[in-house]
Amino acid sequence: MPEYSAAKSGTFKISGDLEVNRLGFGAMRVTGSGIWGPPADHDEGIRTLRRLPALGVNFIDTADSYGPDVSEWLIKEALHPYAEGSIVATKGGLTRHGPDIWLPVGRPEYLIQQVHKSLRNLGVEQIDLWQLHRIDPKVPAKEQFDAIKSLIDSGLIRHAGLSEVSVADIEAASKVFKVATVQNRYNLVDRTSEDVLDYCTKNKIGFIPWYPLAAGDLAKPGSLLDSVATLHGVSPSQVALAWVLKRSPVMIPIPGTSKVRHLEENVQAADVVLTNDQFAALDEEGRKAFKKS
Ligand SMILES: NC(=O)c1ccc[n+]([C@@H]2O[C@H](COP(=O)([O-])OP(=O)(O)OC[C@H]3O[C@@H](n4cnc5c(N)ncnc54)[C@H](OP(=O)(O)O)[C@@H]3O)[C@@H](O)[C@H]2O)c1
Repeated sequence: MPEYSAAKSGTFKISGDLEVNRLGFGAMRVTGSGIWGPPADHDEGIRTLRRLPALGVNFIDTADSYGPDVSEWLIKEALHPYAEGSIVATKGGLTRHGPDIWLPVGRPEYLIQQVHKSLRNLGVEQIDLWQLHRIDPKVPAKEQFDAIKSLIDSGLIRHAGLSEVSVADIEAASKVFKVATVQNRYNLVDRTSEDVLDYCTKNKIGFIPWYPLAAGDLAKPGSLLDSVATLHGVSPSQVALAWVLKRSPVMIPIPGTSKVRHLEENVQAADVVLTNDQFAALDEEGRKAFKKS
């Protein structure tokens, strides 16, 4: 067993019910180029997924549209039957028409069909956390939220979340079902969702930042991020991840990779404890870089 573990990132209870180690894993990258079809190296993808339990990673994020289906199939192939306490969260609501093409479809009958497909793909009777990948602007939001409520009521999903939403969206959805998590793009240099994160922190809604490793120009040699990384004897992206983890107790980052080596590096970020001064200085630099972008 390695000395490092995602357990060092602390825990979060999804909807006050399912406890996970906060440093999770995003399974989008275990598919082909353009998140389309099978991965270039199937065996390394399987090895990466099978390494997760030993590293203490018990929160995996995927979606029916990753591949499509391929990511869910690989998770089942690698990890089914799932270890006690491990959570596979999936998403639905985006359709695929080729590599890098993502089109929302939020019609209730489609969302419900996709949950049935994900249950089969993952080999489970209930999905612990199902997230609406996008609110489809062509369909009344309330119809999409009602479909989610019906999925919770029927027991096909246990908890539900949203992705790429505003505070107003969360408030509207909360009138129909309990919003367990929100998955928005967020990292040191992309602070678009700062208000959403603050709302989630206040309301104990899990915030799942995607693309959490990014640090843009802040990672340049000689930068503050670079010098903090040198001080801790780690890489700038590990510091960027440690910063995200320290930003809020509801934060559940899901760095994604198709390689065991990168997975191990990312999990080691849970060991990096930034001082309050380092956190604040990086915060300021990140905000400045975001304003300029
Ligand atoms: N809700 C949404 O709309 C949405 C959108 C996008 C993603 N997501 C979710 O968020 C997860 C993470 O997002 P992401 O994959 O875009 O961003 P990310 O995890 O921040 O970055 C992934 C990229 O960084 C590389 N990487 C990972 N670890 C590395 C390391 N230690 N050293 C060097 N390179 C490394 C990966 O390539 P290698 O494979 O070569 O390591 C990949 O190209 C996804 O897996 C998915 O579950 C959600």
